[in-house]
Amino acid sequence: MSQEIFPVVQWFPGHMAKATRMITEHKKKVDVVIELLDARIPRSSANPVIRELVGDKPHVVILNKCDLANPKATKEWIEFFKNDGIHAIAIDSKNGKGNKQLVKTVESLAQPIIDRWLKKGIKGRTVRTMILGIPNVGKSTLINKLAGSAATRTANKPGHTRGQQWVKVGKNLELLDTPGVLWPKFEDQRAAARLAMTGAISDDVYDLDSVIKQLLAYLEEHEPTLLHERYKLTEEERTSVDTMLEAIGRRRGCLVSGGVVDYDKVRRVILTDYRNNKLGYITFDGVDEEPYYVDEE
Ligand code: G4P
Repeated sequence: MSQEIFPVVQWFPGHMAKATRMITEHKKKVDVVIELLDARIPRSSANPVIRELVGDKPHVVILNKCDLANPKATKEWIEFFKNDGIHAIAIDSKNGKGNKQLVKTVESLAQPIIDRWLKKGIKGRTVRTMILGIPNVGKSTLINKLAGSAATRTANKPGHTRGQQWVKVGKNLELLDTPGVLWPKFEDQRAAARLAMTGAISDDVYDLDSVIKQLLAYLEEHEPTLLHERYKLTEEERTSVDTMLEAIGRRRGCLVSGGVVDYDKVRRVILTDYRNNKLGYITFDGVDEEPYYVDEE
């Protein structure tokens, strides 16, 4: 679909410059970088220049919100990253699942650095890490879970202006309490639609009609059973995304006077169904899928 999902102008170059500055500045103080991705869209939620920003620092990829993704696809993505020489783990940071494994992984990635320090006679130095990711991927949730009450206490103090600080996580690890906010791949319209579906982009800035049509087209191609179980569509109603939209609208009673389908309402019904997992646990990005966007080397 060639229609623009959301206007590029929403993502000001100024934001990117600020993010790049912040990351470049903090990277110097960090031993290991934690890159947070959305397990449902590991490719679409990745920042196009992350590798450049991270440089040669050890980095771990976290597939967050794995509770909302297809478990089989999550395994495939972990394997995919492993084959690329990158440690990846799946977590559900909302419920704190996988956090211990994350801390262990960061510590083990930092072991060669600790060994180098020891050789130089530096003992007891803590490993420093920071979390990077696009908006709404779960950075704050993860920081709060990892840092526990320490971070919460600081954040809740009335009138307290939060400066950036390190919070102790586990035995030997410190985490920057402010995450690095990255921008997504807004030039890639397929990724943009997936970012919109999963809630990474504010619902006010994209074209809902186009996003819902892409969602229906995706489901019809990859998850027809989930789609048909939910909306009981006939063969005829499945002819196109337009006929599906109309049929779902009628079935759900999204009508205005004269029995005309209220398309805005039906789009919102479908989006809410998807977001409430009524359409199953879907991972949109496939490891074997042809990427739309090729990183510039
Ligand atoms: P950010 O800092 O990267 O911008 O993201 P943030 O932590 O604010 O999380 C964005 C939303 O994603 C929040 O939902 C949060 O609860 C949810 N979330 C984060 N990690 C996970 C996870 O592993 N699994 C699930 N299912 N959700 C996760 P929200 O609707 O904005 O808030 P709320 O409903 O939690 O109050």
